[in-house]
This record gives sequence, structure tokens and C-alpha cells, in this order.
Amino acid sequence: MKVLSDPKKMQAYSQAFRSKGRSLGFVPTMGALHEGHLELVRASRRKDDVTLASIYVNPLQFGPKEDFKKYPRRLAADLGLLAELKVDAVYTPSNKGMYPEGFSTQVQVRGSLVRGLCAPYRPGHFDGVATVVVKLLGAALPTRLYLGQKDAQQVAVLKRVVGDLDMEVEVVACPTVREKDGLAMSSRNLRLSPRGRAIAPVLYRGLRAGRELARSGKSETGEVIAEIRRVLRTEKAIKLQYLEAVERDSLRPVKRVAPGSMIALAAHLENVRLIDNIIV
Ligand code: PAJ
Repeated sequence: MKVLSDPKKMQAYSQAFRSKGRSLGFVPTMGALHEGHLELVRASRRKDDVTLASIYVNPLQFGPKEDFKKYPRRLAADLGLLAELKVDAVYTPSNKGMYPEGFSTQVQVRGSLVRGLCAPYRPGHFDGVATVVVKLLGAALPTRLYLGQKDAQQVAVLKRVVGDLDMEVEVVACPTVREKDGLAMSSRNLRLSPRGRAIAPVLYRGLRAGRELARSGKSETGEVIAEIRRVLRTEKAIKLQYLEAVERDSLRPVKRVAPGSMIALAAHLENVRLIDNIIV
């Protein structure tokens, strides 16, 4: 497995395969890899001739009060996991390489995709994600970009960015990987105490209860949201930040929770911010 930190070397690596007509799948990550990330790698391995991953904790997408400094970093263990899955090359840019002195460009996303859900609570976050992913794509030059549906707003935003900027890459969204008790896998789960970890699955239980109600015919958004709130209130430690029902691609709020709707939430538990969503 090649480990490359220089964007020019990364491009040269990919170009060699592209010129032979090989497909390249790319899985960008911030490291601290878990099964959610590894499933994206496996999806690329199944479909593409060459699989690339990146590990880079992108300072641009963290707010001043967010957990950039505390974000787990475990490069050696991550590289071991990726090598086991037979990833062909890993791109590990440095901060200086990514954002050198004089770096002046930002990709800015506007409109309905960044009106609701996480966007109002994380100003600048999706611009930071869009900027780094455009740069990563420029270095990795993949055929396909693999993303997790767990970060549904990120998927919707990046599909739009890639389309708006005429980038020649197909975005593939993969299902959320969950722990046995339903909790969506996340590097941030590691920061929960055993008690918090036991409470956290209530988020998915709530979402499922909402989806069941909608499927049973009581699909008016207000009713569905009330049902989920009722489930979440059984755990006092859960501090809900938002709970919204939206159309899955446009992310516009829906009046009724119907097939193609997504219910998404963010909540704090022991000062750890957890997000999850469910497609109806
Ligand atoms: P990170 O949080 O490391 O996630 C990397 C990829 O793994 C994302 O596409 C994310 O949606 C996916 N993922 C995380 N948990 C998952 C789960 N439980 N099931 C399925 N997929 C999961 O998302 C980022 O990094 C960054 O914003 C990045 C795109 C790398 C840009 O910096």
C-alpha cells in the first residue's frame, strides 16, 4: 500500500491508472477508522479497479468551539486497517501542504441544502467540507467518491458541489453502519462514558418509532416529530439540537413523512454531539 502526502505525487499515481482506463474509487476520511469507514472501502473494492483513501483532519470544517484539537488521531492503526483491506494508496496530506501560506480559495455552498439540519449550528462547516473535498478530489482524481449516508447533509451538499463544478466523478452514498444496539458508528462515540454509551441508542430507537408511525399512516410531520420527541424524553441526558423531516435529496422540509423523506437529528450527550438519520 502506497502512502502519499504530496498532492503532485498523488495525482501522478492516479493518472497512471486513469490513462489505462482503470476506475478509481476514493474514500475520504478524517481517520480514527471504524466499520462505517471500512464499509466504504469495501464498496469501492467491489466496484473499482483501484481503491484510494485519505486521512486528513480538516481544520476548515471545525468551528472555534468544536473538537478539532480533541479529534482522535491514530495514523498507524488506521494505515494497518486500510492495508488489511488491500487499499492501493492512502493520501495523507499535511496541514501546510493542504493550506500553505497565502491559500486564498474557499468553496461556498448556498441555498436550501444549507438552510436547515446541521448548517445553522455549524456556520462555515459545509464550506470547509466542500473546500477540502474539492482539493482532495483534485489530488486523488477518482472515478467514484464514496460517502456515508450517516452524514446525509454532507452527501447532498457534495453531490451538488460536484455537479455545480462539472467535476467528473460519481458520488456513491453507502448505508449507515450501526452497532448491534442501533447506534450509528462514529469516532465520537469513543468519547461517551459507559453510561452515555448505554443511553445513546435511544436516538435510533426514536427515529425508528417515528418511521413506524409514518408507515402506519400517521404521517403528518408534527405528529411524527412529537412521537420521536416522546421517545427521546425518556432519557434526560439527551439534549436535542434539531429534529427535522426533510425531502432526502433537496433537504427541504416536508409536511408529511412519506417514502423519500428523511428524518434527521443532532443531539448532545455528555457534551458529545451525535447525529443520525433514517430514510422512510
Ligand atoms: P469522517 O467523519 O471521517 O467520515 C468519513 C466518511 O465515513 C464519510 O463519508 C462519513 O459519512 C462516513 N461514515 C462515518 N460514519 C459512518 C457510518 N456509521 N456508516 C457509514 N458511513 C460512515 O466525513 C468526514 O470524515 C469529513 O467531512 C470528510 C468527508 C473526510 C472531509 O473532511
